[in-house]
Amino acid sequence: MTNLTRDFFIGLSNNQFLNSQAKKWGFFLGADKFVAGTTVQSVVKAVKELNQYEISCTLDNLGEFVSDKSEAGQAKDKIITLLDMIDQENVNCHISVKLTQLGLDIDQNYCIENMKDILDTAKQYNIFVNIDMEDYSHYEQTLEVLNVLRKDYDNVGTVIQSYLYRAEDDLADLKDVRIRLVKGAYKENEEVAYTDKQDIDRNFLKLAKQRLLGDTFTSIATHDHYIIDELKAFVQEYHIDNDQFEFQMLYGFRNDMQHKLTNEGYHFCTYIPFGDDWFGYFMRRLAERPQNMNLIVKDTLYT
Ligand code: FDA
Repeated sequence: MTNLTRDFFIGLSNNQFLNSQAKKWGFFLGADKFVAGTTVQSVVKAVKELNQYEISCTLDNLGEFVSDKSEAGQAKDKIITLLDMIDQENVNCHISVKLTQLGLDIDQNYCIENMKDILDTAKQYNIFVNIDMEDYSHYEQTLEVLNVLRKDYDNVGTVIQSYLYRAEDDLADLKDVRIRLVKGAYKENEEVAYTDKQDIDRNFLKLAKQRLLGDTFTSIATHDHYIIDELKAFVQEYHIDNDQFEFQMLYGFRNDMQHKLTNEGYHFCTYIPFGDDWFGYFMRRLAERPQNMNLIVKDTLYT
């Protein structure tokens, strides 16, 4: 993929006008392949379908970079309604949240209070809450919030991005915390992040292996079959228990491989986004892999 294409889609993902218009227009460009509707009911329906195949899920109420307290409060309420529904429907899933949706850009303490409300409800239902990692400008704050929350809650974890030079040190600090390892989805400066794919992949493998040799649960989140195959061989060689880790992929991506890994006996978890705020998420997926556009065009022409 050319940097130009990637920058084009990343540019669109950050475009505030398009993001707000897309909420009014509803799904288009085939976004419904990758986003499970807009409501709590629609996403729970998607979870039930995947649970039938022993696939667990993590649910993300889409939205980020909120600058208004009432919007952040509404997002928190929707997430709490989601937790209630997960409990009522007894489905196998946890949730993923973005701190900038819950007021991180407004006031860090306000965001922490929102997180505590979410974590109190989640704890009552025994549900794990993962804090997604956003762009580097929010990185330090995200870790600070996590560290505050960890003092009172054991049902919270976060994401580490292998494109960051500091990822290894941060993972060492978080060795007791449940972590999702990813490559990293944002366009970061080479002062803080590897920009070459080979370096990012190499670091991903190194960090994944370090985590697998430790004691704490890790979610290995990638669609990259080279990495998955190498890690499968690694866990066999070192007799690592399958309960120590899971593979994760995004909803609508490589469905065949999601089922294959589950059938092979690995724990598998699908990350399912839902909600009106789908545009930025969808554009970032196209930035990673413009071939996704081919799938969409084919679908639009032939269905
Ligand atoms: P990458 O895009 O590097 O592709 C590697 C190779 O895999 C490709 O060359 C191709 O061969 C194959 N491949 C990939 N996708 C394919 C497809 N759809 N069909 C066929 N082949 C395919 N990021 C972040 O910054 N913060 C976060 O919190 C999260 N959270 C998150 C959760 C989950 C569950 C996932 C899977 C990912 C994230 N990410 C994320 C995104 C992540 O950082 C990264 O941008 C994407 O996963 C893309 O990198 P991959 O490792 O998947 O493969």
